[in-house]
Amino acid sequence: MCGIVGALTDRPVAPLMLDALRRLEYRGYDSAGLATIVDGALQRRRAAGKLSELEGVLAAEPLPGTSGVGHTRWATHGPPTVDNAHPHVAGRVAVVHNGIIENHAELKAELKAEGVVFTSDTDTEVVAHLLDRAIRAGQTPQAAMAALMPRLAGAFAFVVLVAGEDDLLLAARRASPLALGIGDGECFVGSDAVALAPLTRRIVYLEDGDWAVVRRAGVQVFRDAGVPVERPEQVSTVSAAMVGKGNYRHFMEKEIHEQPEAIAHTLHAVLDPGTGAATIPSPLDADHVPKITIVAAGTSYYAGLAARYWLESLAGIATEVELASEFRDRDAVLPPGGVAIAVSQSGESLDTLMAIRRAKALGQKTLAIVNVPESTIARESDGVLLTRAGPEFGVASTKATTAQLTAFCALAIALGRKHGRLSEERASALRIALTGLPGRVGEVLRQEHEGQFMRIAHDLARARDVLYLGRGLSYPIALEGALKLKEITYVHAEGYAAGEMKHGPIALIDEHMPVVIVAPTDGWFEKTASNVAEVRARGGRVILLTDAAGAERLRESNDHVIVLPTVDPVVAPILYTVPVQLLAYYAAVEKGTDADQPRNLAKSVTVE
Ligand code: F6R
Repeated sequence: MCGIVGALTDRPVAPLMLDALRRLEYRGYDSAGLATIVDGALQRRRAAGKLSELEGVLAAEPLPGTSGVGHTRWATHGPPTVDNAHPHVAGRVAVVHNGIIENHAELKAELKAEGVVFTSDTDTEVVAHLLDRAIRAGQTPQAAMAALMPRLAGAFAFVVLVAGEDDLLLAARRASPLALGIGDGECFVGSDAVALAPLTRRIVYLEDGDWAVVRRAGVQVFRDAGVPVERPEQVSTVSAAMVGKGNYRHFMEKEIHEQPEAIAHTLHAVLDPGTGAATIPSPLDADHVPKITIVAAGTSYYAGLAARYWLESLAGIATEVELASEFRDRDAVLPPGGVAIAVSQSGESLDTLMAIRRAKALGQKTLAIVNVPESTIARESDGVLLTRAGPEFGVASTKATTAQLTAFCALAIALGRKHGRLSEERASALRIALTGLPGRVGEVLRQEHEGQFMRIAHDLARARDVLYLGRGLSYPIALEGALKLKEITYVHAEGYAAGEMKHGPIALIDEHMPVVIVAPTDGWFEKTASNVAEVRARGGRVILLTDAAGAERLRESNDHVIVLPTVDPVVAPILYTVPVQLLAYYAAVEKGTDADQPRNLAKSVTVE
């Protein structure tokens, strides 16, 4: 989950790499570093902390050179100190690395027995030493790389710079993403195409197990032990203009406000303009799908939980939702002809990738619902349904989530029609409800409501614990609200199915406990209303998210009530995701935590 870059240019390379690393900071931000070649020798600058610390180091001690590698880290092996910051250097070799070299302990022991002294706690350093030793023994860097690749186990990507080789980078990927950028007489490497967007849009994506020799004139790609392969050059759809914060304080705030477009663009891509119905992607278009297994992590998992309600109730398809990190190592029993759906914003979460591979091995056909078309999960799945949220940089997922929910809902409606479970009249009413959502979300985001969200967030930011409750389709939104709050404000929050409260968590409720209740007027509303009464009876502070009819029915003078536009209950989870994001965001602003880069986290989790 670190961000890595490499560049071969004819201009000063440090500012270019720093700029690319800024676009990769979502992947990790606990330390950073750059290395370049100056007069044939390696030079390096590193700093603990965010990139701004490295900028300070570079201002005091500039780094010249026109070829280099750079890194922003999310610590796995060893704390975020300067010594553990990348690039790691051994002799003539500098390495920046993302992911984990699983057999590093074994390789380290072997190197130590040969007298090598390690200067960091990282798994990365073994790569630098192994390559340096091979080069010192007389191998070319390319031959050393070909010999090294079969020796490494794990899921990783890395880029290598070699002293004395001013026109060479070596780059490798196994499961972790890596893109090569082709410029005009210059070449780049980055963890994703977004990092390279201002430099070039001509991208060669490495496949799992590929490694590459990169020179200013172009790239050559090889498989594990050195067999040359062709990889097509593609034009990335990400433009430099898409990667800024605009007038917003944080990417998260900008991305929350981009949700009307994210939903509209996703619908536009998913719905057939002729019929208005969603096109059902392969392999879900089979005549009979005995079971759907959704695999995902974090927020994407919660989108999957909402999808289960839709797929069961609208389409009548048996559906399970699995945490990817658990599913990947389980002996799940799945029926022949079943479909596994991987849901992932990044399309790179390693647990989700491994889960979809496991599902394949268990005989399932696979569908990816992802936001990044070129991602590994998209490329490895039998079918792809793209959400169109645009690049998401805030570590806490927002617009990608509502886009995932939108895609799932449209899909369930189409499957409901196909399998004769929904009448055309009902399906058409639901589609109208979906296409009205960008407008309804826009209403929630209107400036005039900001004051109310900020007042409630003020309370949440000061709470020790917060409970989020919801039933049925609102249950996943309660889980999502709690995750958002805890990850960006560090306030402890729990999401619970409202009906489960009486089986334990009710013991937590007292006058200090804010309880956020997600309760549109739907088929579960009356039961949730009883839970609201139970919270009040124990002195809990009720924060109610509901519509006008729900507010009329439940409002009491001490409550905070956020009244949302009235929508068809089927699409309500998509709308109600927005206020739980806003509450968490404003609570983070109130507390002064960094909403875009919360501590210990990173976006696109490519470790296990
Ligand atoms: C939370 C959040 C994470 C991600 C999770 C999966 O706000 O963003 O929980 O949802 O890491 O990431 P993707 O969807 O990229 O697989």
